[in-house]
Amino acid sequence: MDRILDQDLLPSDEGVERSLRPQSFKEYIGQDKVKEQLQIFIEAAKLRDEALDHVLLFGPPGLGKTTMAFVIANELGVNLKQTSGPAIEKAGDLVAILNDLEPGDVLFIDEIHRMPMAVEEVLYSAMEDFYIDIMIGAGETSRSVHLELPPFTLIGATTRAGMLSNPLRARFGINGHMEYYDLADLREIVERTADIFEASISPEAALELARRSRGTPRIANRLLKRVRDYAQIMGDGQINQEITAQALTLLDVDHEGLDYTDQKILKTMIEVYQGGPVGLGTLAINIAEERETLEDMYEPYLIQKGFIMRTRSGRVATQKAYDHMGYPYLAKGD
Ligand SMILES: Nc1ncnc2c1ncn2[C@@H]1O[C@H](COP(=O)(O)OP(=O)(O)OP(=O)(O)O)[C@@H](O)[C@H]1O
Ligand SMILES: [Mg+2]
Repeated sequence: MDRILDQDLLPSDEGVERSLRPQSFKEYIGQDKVKEQLQIFIEAAKLRDEALDHVLLFGPPGLGKTTMAFVIANELGVNLKQTSGPAIEKAGDLVAILNDLEPGDVLFIDEIHRMPMAVEEVLYSAMEDFYIDIMIGAGETSRSVHLELPPFTLIGATTRAGMLSNPLRARFGINGHMEYYDLADLREIVERTADIFEASISPEAALELARRSRGTPRIANRLLKRVRDYAQIMGDGQINQEITAQALTLLDVDHEGLDYTDQKILKTMIEVYQGGPVGLGTLAINIAEERETLEDMYEPYLIQKGFIMRTRSGRVATQKAYDHMGYPYLAKGD
């Protein structure tokens, strides 16, 4: 089964992925609100020769948070050091990273909601006043050392703003809420990627791919790769609407862009739980997925598209879900 949402890249995909990443705001398609505010704050920081205020980027996977972090560093003209919440195991790891920063540099921490608490606490003073106090040694010989840091910009990325502690969240001066992309933007992304691949794609096919990409550039790019393969083997290499529709059917992506797992979620809710309400944990066990995966990757899109509703007693499948999956809808109470 082709798992389109999977984040893990094959090693051969890594180079391609990098070449697809927009480098500047000009190349970065969509997310206009986030881009617009960042552009102003970056301009101002550069004028005053200061480090940009700390930035928190949040939104579902594959919407371009990592890409945006690199664009910000590029636009500032500074270095970017990259790490992730789970990778920083001890306070000492963070101290080593912070100690290595040049004035104005960007420190990008992916999955920042997964940082250990002891590490997070070191970050507070680093973010607020650019210093850290660390304990060196143990027992009676231990002492506190005060370390000044250069001004820097922390960019944190998270799929769940709600998982961040209040003290941490409060220390970000700029909040970038990444949204699912609209059709026009996704289509432009598909056409840009096709261009980089030197693949020929019709406007209708680009729109079809956009429609089926769950509002997500990563999925758009991944589907385009598979459709390009299909066009090469089953057609003459030209990506037209017919080839696209055939390839996507083969990949189990339906005309609303729902993939195998999306469909399984809706089907389980309807068949096993009569449409709900059903708790997310229960649902996750039923379809053999991690609860976190459901919550981060699948549910937000299904909610945004009106297939699922969140209620106090659990998740409920809407009439749209019944119609889409081809089940008769009986309003509750009938
Ligand atoms: N605005 C954009 N224009 C063109 N391509 C984009 C855009 N945003 C993202 N992409 C492409 O989509 C892919 C995923 O982007 P990225 O890795 O930045 O997402 P992410 O939000 O960091 O995801 P995750 O939460 O999984 O870390 C990349 O290959 C990138 O090139
Ligand atoms: Mg990322």
